[in-house]
Amino acid sequence: MTATDKPQDRVLIFDTTLRDGEQSPGATMTLGEKLQIATLLDDMGVDIIEAGFPIASEGDFEAVSKIAELAKNSVICGLSRANFKDIDRCWEAVKHARQPRIHTFIGTSPQHRAIPNLDMDQMAERIDETVTHARNLCDNVQWSPMDATRTEHDYLCRVIEIAIKAGATTINIPDTVGYTAPGESADLIRMLIERVPGADEIIFATHCHNDLGMATANALAAVSAGARQIECTINGLGERAGNTALEEVVMAMRVRKDIMPWHTGIDTTKIMQASRLVSTVSGFSVQYNKAIVGKNAFAHESGIHQDGMLKSADTFEIMRPEDVGLTETSIVMGKHSGRAALRSKLENLGYKLGDNQLKDVFVRFKELADRKKEVYDEDLVALMQDTGTNAANDTIQVRRLRVICGTEAPQSAELTLSVDGVEHSVEATGDGPVDAAFNAVKQLVEHEAKLQLYQVHAVTEGTDAQATVSVRMEEGGKIVTGQSADTDTVVASVKAYVNALNKLLVRRLKTTAPAA
Ligand code: KIV
Ligand code: ZN
Repeated sequence: MTATDKPQDRVLIFDTTLRDGEQSPGATMTLGEKLQIATLLDDMGVDIIEAGFPIASEGDFEAVSKIAELAKNSVICGLSRANFKDIDRCWEAVKHARQPRIHTFIGTSPQHRAIPNLDMDQMAERIDETVTHARNLCDNVQWSPMDATRTEHDYLCRVIEIAIKAGATTINIPDTVGYTAPGESADLIRMLIERVPGADEIIFATHCHNDLGMATANALAAVSAGARQIECTINGLGERAGNTALEEVVMAMRVRKDIMPWHTGIDTTKIMQASRLVSTVSGFSVQYNKAIVGKNAFAHESGIHQDGMLKSADTFEIMRPEDVGLTETSIVMGKHSGRAALRSKLENLGYKLGDNQLKDVFVRFKELADRKKEVYDEDLVALMQDTGTNAANDTIQVRRLRVICGTEAPQSAELTLSVDGVEHSVEATGDGPVDAAFNAVKQLVEHEAKLQLYQVHAVTEGTDAQATVSVRMEEGGKIVTGQSADTDTVVASVKAYVNALNKLLVRRLKTTAPAA
């Protein structure tokens, strides 16, 4: 907060990357990945982290509980449907947080009311009972009328009043199907503040989906009308066209303070790190021209722009790359660099490591520096993002790979994997080295999963650049994404494939996955 910021203009940032974002098909994250993201969100000033949907599976429950234990600053919130069992499970998961919150919801629009087969009065009664129950467990309760933007106004006012009387402290207004437009989004919040008794005692939140590309505009419009919590995700990750992007609303308020005089508690210099982390973990790459975090967001290609930029940066730049944590590419180190230099470089890039973690990363850095003359910032980021791949606790681990490729077919691969601690080897052929290596994996770990996407990106320029590989796989309607980085594209490919298989194993353990 600066000296001129007013407390009533403070907008809370509620990040739901780990709940709504993870619901995006293929964005399933492992426990370790969720903890990594939550630690960063907690550190960068996110006010509320929606850590998951505890009743959905054992995995979700464990993730929410662990995040609740580790968070130092953020409120930790879990999602629950409108029934006692969901709410109790949610409370079990969040109760150890320094600041826990229960978020409970029910669909209130005509389209959603039909699903639980409740009439308007029965639904009102259910809302009263469930919010009261949640409030008896926890002082901090958020309630959402799902599909609020398509709910009849009179009914919406009625059920919000009930939720407030039952003890809800935040009322979230979701635009579940991304249907609303900015003017309507503002009018809706204004109408609720005017009409609902008790509206001045709670915080209104806005939760927008991006189906028509208006999620950022709708969220900011809601704030202009009095909402004081924005629900969003890093990179706008989320089902279908995604959610409001955290980086967009935060930077819009910062850059256009003149017309949007609201502020958040976000340390914007951590935005790029969060974006890269979420993109790697989810396997959803960020489009090059994406606002704030896209590769081209600060690139000035045309001669006129470059000339202007050299004379004065503000000719074409409305914000500085450093404001979002984008640093100039620089050669950082080589194989003679020491542990202290690595620690300090990683700290500059936003990674604070404990001694054991540094030891592990240093070994991997040395291996990389042996293979690659110059290690750039981007290489270190890829190295850090690869720490969860081929991890010691993974069921399947890559031990050894040797491929024979060239103009003479067939290309072949010899592969050794450790599966449940036992090593198995096989030789397979294929149409090219990656195909041969993937065939070898299939022989060692039989599965029905279908490869939906195989994507390779060079981390930096030059023929010795590391490749980051993403694969997306589908098995019985479950979609997972795996990724890895290595200077050897085939090694990165196999590790990414195995990473996806390990996630599928985790996903198989997920039992009920209720829709939200
Ligand atoms: O989009 C939505 O309606 C939701 C609710 C569960 C808040 O994500
Ligand atoms: Zn949503």
